[in-house]
Amino acid sequence: MPATHPRIRTTEEYHEAYRRSVETPDAFWAEVAEPFTWRRKWDSVRGGEFSPAGTSTWFDGAKLNITENCLDRHLAARGNKLALIWEPNDPKQRHLRLTYRELYQEVCRFANVLHNLGVEKGDRVCLYMPMIPPLAIAVLACARIGAIHSVVFAGFSSTAIADRVNDAQAAFVITADGLNRGPKQIPVKRVVDEALESCPSVRKVLVVEHLGWPVHMQEGRDVWYHDEAKDVSRSFKAEEMAAEDPLFILYTSGSTGKPKGVVHTTAGYMVWADYTFRNVFQVEENDVYWCTADVGWVTGHSYLLYGPLLAGATTLMFEGVPTYPDAGRFWEVIDKHSVSIFYTAPTAIRSLMAAPLDNVLSYSLDSLRVLGSVGEPINEEAWHWYHQHVGKGRCPIVDTWWQTETAGIMISAMAGITPSKPTHAGLPMPGVEPVLLTQEGQEIEGNDQEGYLAIRASWPGVIRTTWGDHERAAQTYFRPYPGYYFTGDGARRDENGLYRIIGRVDDVINVSGHRFGTAEIENAINQDPHVVESAVVGYPHDVKGQGIYAYVILQDGVPDKETERQRIEASVIETVVAEIGKIARPDKIQIVSGLPKTRSGKIMRRILRKVAEGETSNIGDTTTLLDPAVVDEIVNGRK
Ligand code: PRX
Repeated sequence: MPATHPRIRTTEEYHEAYRRSVETPDAFWAEVAEPFTWRRKWDSVRGGEFSPAGTSTWFDGAKLNITENCLDRHLAARGNKLALIWEPNDPKQRHLRLTYRELYQEVCRFANVLHNLGVEKGDRVCLYMPMIPPLAIAVLACARIGAIHSVVFAGFSSTAIADRVNDAQAAFVITADGLNRGPKQIPVKRVVDEALESCPSVRKVLVVEHLGWPVHMQEGRDVWYHDEAKDVSRSFKAEEMAAEDPLFILYTSGSTGKPKGVVHTTAGYMVWADYTFRNVFQVEENDVYWCTADVGWVTGHSYLLYGPLLAGATTLMFEGVPTYPDAGRFWEVIDKHSVSIFYTAPTAIRSLMAAPLDNVLSYSLDSLRVLGSVGEPINEEAWHWYHQHVGKGRCPIVDTWWQTETAGIMISAMAGITPSKPTHAGLPMPGVEPVLLTQEGQEIEGNDQEGYLAIRASWPGVIRTTWGDHERAAQTYFRPYPGYYFTGDGARRDENGLYRIIGRVDDVINVSGHRFGTAEIENAINQDPHVVESAVVGYPHDVKGQGIYAYVILQDGVPDKETERQRIEASVIETVVAEIGKIARPDKIQIVSGLPKTRSGKIMRRILRKVAEGETSNIGDTTTLLDPAVVDEIVNGRK
């Protein structure tokens, strides 16, 4: 009899699993990994550990293909079960449903097309796509071939695409003619064309028809998917991958200027995505599960695609936005498809809380069983609104803390099993050993304590490297506190040992659950011809969690006229939109004649943060500044 996946069902089982995962990790994870389809089993379970160079391995020596685990192995028992439900942007348009067998066939077809275009194992394929089934299919098709997918969120600008394509040296791009986002339509292919003017590595562009728009097709480079897919087979033998072969690259921002390509590998990622998905959400065979994240972010990778498909669940993919055509759209989709598990971001909840309550009260939401939150701290008010009005007081909320680098959920309640306390992520997953450190790296023992959050000992989903620059991964995550993975977050452990994430302790801001380095936004702003220098900080924002506050110094000093100031502010915003995308657009821009700097030239961000937060009565010591007068000017000119 094939082994079944172990599942935690009681609090006692959680504590027992946690104990075993820490005391005998090899035996624990071997048991978790056993039921997957392996072409060859591993020689060792956990290897490498956290040397300062950060070179963990998991299931080394094993051979597999993750898509055989997502698709092929479900065909016998779940061939006719729904794998994917797609809900379009426009509620009047038809939704789509694919069974496991249909999804399998579509993935094979897509893999054949990619193969015919010359895509091979190890090639990097960049995807810049709308939230439509071909995106899910294309990701899996890459994995079936063994090509490394790098999905770029389709809200990024052409410059941001070019940076990512060039960093990964991608030879192939998959895109579409256009996309719908609420009332807007965006010419995606045109954005890609602009990007590719500076991407010499790209040989082929595969275009999926979605809006039926005419697009420019470059002779010899661009081909339509529907032309290429006409006569290809619906089976494709999956490539045999080594456990530590890269599965994907996903770019994310850090505290330095350039986004880095986080690399996850095959076997460890698979085991981690599946294990955390099934246990955190307590998934049952008949659940309809909906994660609202875009596949362009890690949440879309692990909990819209891989996790649910590995577990043989039914996953829903939504093309649209929460507020189109109205603020009841999420709730309408839940009722329409009988969604039982719903996973979204606090920023979405806060934006819907701002709409009249009728938008949610007019739907039954009877099918819901479990609610999830991800991406940023969920504030108390949003937690209660979600619990009361969406979950009708009967659905446990799992507040899941994790990061692009951790591949999957690290600290979270398991629905209905371990404690769910407002604003607290809760207890660690089996295999995760969180610690609180002092700034100097001393472990802080006991409960009711606060410190830097780090993880002791490797877990299957840990980041393996940053693409093309291993040193950067080592320096960012493994060298700050040798022997630990450093998260960049601050956390509090409450009197019962539950973790509460406080926020970043580095120069990273979290805008609507999306990460940006302050340096990254400053680099973009500095591209504007008016600007000499800038400094960016985050400040509390009612809907976005954090907003972007930019202080800028201009070539020609501070303009006297308000209209001139407005013109330049608009230009700065336009520059950021072109360099990164609309999602990084500054909320407030303050033109200043100087920045508060120490005598050694370091910007005192503490002061800038205080001003942005409106705490101007409590600026602190400014005597060490080169020019203390600049602080008064900044306070007086606060937006
Ligand atoms: O600061 C934490 C915050 O988001 C960061 C990770 O961002 P990213 O890699 O883009 O991944 C987002 C999706 C997992 C973390 O360092 N964060 C994420 N989830 C939570 C959170 N902060 C508080 N509570 C959470 N549940």
